[in-house]
Amino acid sequence: MAEEAIGVEHLEKVYPGGVRAVQGISFSVGSGELFGFLGPNGAGKTTTISMLTTLLRPTSGRALVAGIDVATRPREVRSRIGLVFQDSTADGELTGRENMELAAGLFGMSLREARAQIDDLLASMDLADAADRRVKGYSGGMKRRLELAVAVVHTPQILFLDEPTIGLDPQGRAGFWEYIQRLRKEKQVTIFMTTHYLDEVENLCERVAIIDHGKIVAMGTNDALKERVGGDEVEVRLAAGAPDLTGELTAVDGAREVTRDGSVYHVKTPRGETLVPSLVKACDRAGVAVEGIRVLRPSLDRVFLGLTGRAYREEGYDEGRASSSSAFTPRRGG
Ligand SMILES: Nc1ncnc2c1ncn2[C@@H]1O[C@H](COP(=O)(O)OP(=O)(O)OP(=O)(O)O)[C@@H](O)[C@H]1O
Ligand SMILES: [Mg+2]
Repeated sequence: MAEEAIGVEHLEKVYPGGVRAVQGISFSVGSGELFGFLGPNGAGKTTTISMLTTLLRPTSGRALVAGIDVATRPREVRSRIGLVFQDSTADGELTGRENMELAAGLFGMSLREARAQIDDLLASMDLADAADRRVKGYSGGMKRRLELAVAVVHTPQILFLDEPTIGLDPQGRAGFWEYIQRLRKEKQVTIFMTTHYLDEVENLCERVAIIDHGKIVAMGTNDALKERVGGDEVEVRLAAGAPDLTGELTAVDGAREVTRDGSVYHVKTPRGETLVPSLVKACDRAGVAVEGIRVLRPSLDRVFLGLTGRAYREEGYDEGRASSSSAFTPRRGG
């Protein structure tokens, strides 16, 4: 891995009153990486981000952000990071531009220094036309884009996003991610993000950690996580009335388990697409035509289920939550 952007060792947070929200987690994020932190309501995502961004003091353990200890040198950490909160933070009474100027001032930038940067960011977030309007008239997507622009006005090395797309419609979400990808490309920022949306993690994140009840239950690339829960399944469809090829398919190198349902076979394997040619050849050799073949990849939902024994959005995760985020809690049992 490249240079380390975030290094966390045995990090723990016990809230006054005794809730052990984060229970000794360890992980590392490489410089320039887009790292996804996934978990159900109350898992400890915001608590972790709050510790990494110096808003909350760890109870024990250690976290280095940009190589700096968050507990002992929080001011230095703050100058190198940007944060988009789970809850909206833009001031509705101010214009978009004023919100950005305020943030730049808080980071000690002179207005002269900040102005060009602000114009540039407002334009790249498609907010140039709305820049001088009050934020309370912005749509949800515009607000989030403004918050992203505010978060990077001081050109941070590392950007923390706590459920940045919550409350956005699919189009708003897609747009938001385009801006993020642009930021990564143009400014090479490292991104640490939490989300409830498994598809965002599947499509965007290079590596993922899944946190549940304050503990990391899995970490790795999407592919590696999926292999851990048994990998892919290849569905092979033969012509009706074809002879039983269970033996031939089981003999294919890389096939783990073959089940048959009439002329349809399901072959378990760590990596589906690499097995397809050999499966077709095996059928050819037996003189049986393949009518169809497809690779079934487990979803991250399935990964979560496999690792915790519970569905990702099972009932009971958001019990006792008082935060305003609960208004956006994903539908139960969905
Ligand atoms: N200030 C607090 N005082 C006491 N307990 C808290 C506090 N903030 C959070 N908790 C508890 O800590 C646990 C982790 O909460 P946290 O907000 O980190 O979860 P989360 O993964 O961000 O959840 P969500 O997806 O709902 O945002 C929960 O049990 C929560 O009720
Ligand atoms: Mg949260």
